Amino acid sequence: MASGNAVVVFSVSGCCMCHVVKRLLLGLGVGPTVYELDQELGGREIQAVLAQLLSAPSSSSPSPSTTTTSAAAQMNAAVPAVFVGGKLLGGVEKVMSCHINGSLVPLLKQAGALWL
Ligand SMILES: *[C@@H]1O[C@H](CO)[C@@H](O)[C@H](O)[C@H]1NC(C)=O
Repeated sequence: MASGNAVVVFSVSGCCMCHVVKRLLLGLGVGPTVYELDQELGGREIQAVLAQLLSAPSSSSPSPSTTTTSAAAQMNAAVPAVFVGGKLLGGVEKVMSCHINGSLVPLLKQAGALWL
């Protein structure tokens, strides 16, 4: 799914930061493919995978209670997840910092999401 388009955003409807990221990309002239995970078949599983990817250096979780509870707690950390050129760029903070230091646009051009 992530490599199906130059820019893919995994989102859930009603997620404020997802909206921010989508608006930023649209403002740059990118038309991202957006998956609303609360409306996708298997969206919950995808969200769990994204949460793991995004929390790679996982801050030692106080309670290693398995699956359901921790997964639910991680749900908000999973979105938005932005993929550029089939590779995970990151969440809203990563996208914003790349935007601010000017590395986002070259990245988007490289991925073929922008032509100008
Ligand atoms: C811009 O910031 C991002 C995220 O912190 C970093 O990965 C990237 O290397 C930086 N690029 C430049 C050109 O400083």
